Amino acid sequence: MCGIFAYLNYMVPVKRQQILDILIGGLQRLEYRGYDSAGLAIDGGQGECQDNILIIKQKGKVAALQQEILEQKDIDKETPLLCHAGISHTRWATHGEPSPRNSHPHRSDDNNEFVVIHNGIITNYKDIKLFLEKKGYKFESESDTESIAKLIKHLHSCHKNNGVTFQKLVAETIQQLEGSFALVFKSTHYPGELVATRRGGPLLVGVRSKVQLATNAFPIIVSGGASQDGTYPDGKTVHPLMKQLSSDCTDGSDAMEYFFSSDASAVIEHTKQVIYLEDEDVAAVCNGKLNIHRATLDDSNVRELITVKMELEQIMKGNYSTFMQKEIFEQPESLVNTMRGRLNYEKGSVVLGGLKDHMGEIRRCRRLIMIACGTSFNSAVATRQIMEELTELPVMVELSSDFLDRRTPIFRDDVCFFISQSGETADTLMALKYCKEKGALNVGITNVVGSTISRETHCGVHVNAGPEIGVASTKAYTSQIATLIMFALTLCEDRISMTDRRKEIMRGLHELPEKIEKVLLLDERIKEIAEELIHERSLLVMGRGYNFSTCIEGALKIKELSYMHSEGILCGELKHGPLAMLDPGMKVLMVCTKDRVYSKVLSGIQQVIARQGRPIVICNPDDNNVHDMAYKVIEVPQTVDCIQAILTVIPLQLLSFHLATKKGLNVDMPRNLAKSVTVE
Ligand code: AGP
Repeated sequence: MCGIFAYLNYMVPVKRQQILDILIGGLQRLEYRGYDSAGLAIDGGQGECQDNILIIKQKGKVAALQQEILEQKDIDKETPLLCHAGISHTRWATHGEPSPRNSHPHRSDDNNEFVVIHNGIITNYKDIKLFLEKKGYKFESESDTESIAKLIKHLHSCHKNNGVTFQKLVAETIQQLEGSFALVFKSTHYPGELVATRRGGPLLVGVRSKVQLATNAFPIIVSGGASQDGTYPDGKTVHPLMKQLSSDCTDGSDAMEYFFSSDASAVIEHTKQVIYLEDEDVAAVCNGKLNIHRATLDDSNVRELITVKMELEQIMKGNYSTFMQKEIFEQPESLVNTMRGRLNYEKGSVVLGGLKDHMGEIRRCRRLIMIACGTSFNSAVATRQIMEELTELPVMVELSSDFLDRRTPIFRDDVCFFISQSGETADTLMALKYCKEKGALNVGITNVVGSTISRETHCGVHVNAGPEIGVASTKAYTSQIATLIMFALTLCEDRISMTDRRKEIMRGLHELPEKIEKVLLLDERIKEIAEELIHERSLLVMGRGYNFSTCIEGALKIKELSYMHSEGILCGELKHGPLAMLDPGMKVLMVCTKDRVYSKVLSGIQQVIARQGRPIVICNPDDNNVHDMAYKVIEVPQTVDCIQAILTVIPLQLLSFHLATKKGLNVDMPRNLAKSVTVE
């Protein structure tokens, strides 16, 4: 929802201007996560003097913050700082309107003794605020985050200068917090230090060092169990990396840089070496050393330093005008990546490595439940029928929020799929926690490697669509569909009766990238249709069978990007209500491809025409039946029924893109939305 980015340099001289550039650069990469205000905190003072913290905040996009920084003429931007800790944040408002006052970093007091950036929601902030107000603290914003900044100062004052570490203070602070968070703290009492922690919100640490690190595994220090220099009380266990870092190096080998971020995309231009923090971890950098503390150990006693595979060009726009456009046009390639190493068309095999060890259990299950939000939910709708057909199991599709509201009964022999591009969606994560408690087998279908859902599920598949930056999901959606179809194929591999069907589907998947290329050639035609629809109040998108998913996903894209009303309607439901909306002025788009429900959709088209509707129809090439009735046609290549929705949705992705572009709207960052919805 919000973006967190922090940078700490230790024994690496960096000018304030460069620090500001690094922070702003990080925020720009994260802006898709939230973009109604932004802010940062760096050391103030002149030259190397680090006796105060300077906070700069601005409403609007990161560019507005950048401008604000440019206008600050009295900051010494040129003196190199050998050791410095800076934090920054881009916000998606939950508590309080977008304004500099409500944006982050939030501070403890007028002297900025403690400052904090936060992603998530503190549900008990009112109680904390009341408590602190009684102690004389004055609040200046409507944000829940401000209570954290003031609480840590209060706890600090309770220690009465007894040398409490920053890490300990943060650990004490989060003990009092309820809700979800990823936090990074900075303080005038602990210059050159940063402490970060998470519960529910994603957070990682990028590590850059000139020398090869002695290890790739950072040990967890159980709180109270180790000193700040990494020496354990028994005096025996000193981690090799810590030894290296605490040695008295004079050759620059103690130089370290750390990047804290809610997303790897902001870090990869600096380093590919990252540690994904787990819930309740408290990661503290002090004297250039990173220690990870916890109150109690979890499943592992180390945090691995992982090499992120993402490349910089994957998160750049290249020659495209927007990320969304790039991502739509990347689909032939992203789908190849989804299937690479998994589907072997020649051998007729599908192997999903992440599920291999659980296939026995999955085969024995009593039902499959797909749980997701928004576009990810639509991918479940797109694949439900083929799952039912190939697995012969009951398949439920569930919107995460509603699934939780109903407290849906879940059993130990259920297999629950959590589908999420980001792998961080709060509702889906909560549903996952719920199913875990009920003892179901939980499978993650995510696009972001290292995301919370991919780590919290028992097993899963990465859809490998590559980073998706545009808030509107496009390539991740089509890759989710392909992944779920591959899953269904693996489950029926030993059924002789399904051999031909399997072959047909595999051929369809194999030919898919080529057919997508053909659909993308429709771009100009769709641009013209967008021109015609731009002033309409509403667009109804109708279809049935496999293409129903295209109707709801297409309508979602149109609403999300062009702010025009649009509704996906199941043709079979037309006469049960929606027909009443039809008049010559109502714009209708229908999806009618040659599958089992073809004649039923044709009859739907007739019903629309009978009410003076003039439908634009997405159909297969040379379909005279449709040509005779449609006002306009958009022809997409024919493929196997269960794959067709991948081809029919692309014209609607393009349509929503062109509608928004023609209206002059921000395609990558539609209003009121964010890429990763980490709050309920
Ligand atoms: C898609 O265009 C939307 N931005 C939205 O519906 C999204 O799919 C939904 O919030 C779920 O996100 P997830 O896939 O990251 O869980």
